[in-house]
Amino acid sequence: MTLIVHLNGQFLPRSEARLSVDERGFFFGDGVYEVTRAVRGTLFEWDRHARRLARGLKELRIAFPLDPRAMHDLHVRLLRENDLMDAQATVYLQITRGAAPRTHRFPPADTPPTVFLSATGFTPPHDKRATGVAAVTYPDYRWSRCDLKTVNLLPAVMANQFAVDHGAFEAIFLRDAVITEGSHTNVFGVLGGELRTYPNSNYVLPGVTRDIVIEIAHELGVPASETPIYHHEVAALEECFLTGTTSDIMPVTSIDGASVGNGRPGSITMKLYHALAERLEASVAAETALR
Ligand code: PDD
Repeated sequence: MTLIVHLNGQFLPRSEARLSVDERGFFFGDGVYEVTRAVRGTLFEWDRHARRLARGLKELRIAFPLDPRAMHDLHVRLLRENDLMDAQATVYLQITRGAAPRTHRFPPADTPPTVFLSATGFTPPHDKRATGVAAVTYPDYRWSRCDLKTVNLLPAVMANQFAVDHGAFEAIFLRDAVITEGSHTNVFGVLGGELRTYPNSNYVLPGVTRDIVIEIAHELGVPASETPIYHHEVAALEECFLTGTTSDIMPVTSIDGASVGNGRPGSITMKLYHALAERLEASVAAETALR
């Protein structure tokens, strides 16, 4: 089947989509992106994705009049165009400062942003979740605005390839001997029965899944604190897991080759995962009922 993408107002076959060589995303990584989960045509937690996107555009001073509802409808139309309304999918959205001759400073104010969307069928990684995955640590040499979801992802690419080279699923960043997050996930650990993750700040992405997991922990009465996990505490972790749009909650069963806890997915981890899966299904059912 021909894959359909959206580029600057047009729906067209992926093979026919063309970007300018003056594209600032290409020269500078000058843009932001979102990856949203779609389940049978429902965009999971769309409002949170839209808020993060709007904030990123504002911080980068990319003049894009974001109408969250219109953007939502563009996502759904793309799912429909790709026959993904009965399936699970991810929708990738990228907005850059547009195409203009290369100068570091902003291009003329009338340069239109580039808007690109693509949709891909998605199979949740249940097999990996059943066994848990390996992670390796990696130095966090990213910049100090990791809260912005920019397409400047080179450190994440290098870190993730390091993980792959070492037979691991994810690279966990260490900044000043503290775990910040993963190359494409947030990281949680359980220590003394308490759930911990790095506080929302300029050093981590405010993950949509992360924030929901903290809410779920509070609902279930699991003690949770936005307190960093120090490198020296890794050996004592009872449980560890990753969160993200494409990982949901993914148990980490080894870090740098050493087992986490008993080397199997932890009980708090799986309790939170089941609650997250229920929340996802409930939101799909609620939205389907309104159609
Ligand atoms: N990554 N931290 C980083 C650095 C990320 O890139 C991501 C998402 C997350 C998790 O955020 P969320 O729960 O909102 O997906 C945390 C996306 C999925 C990606 O780059 O493909």
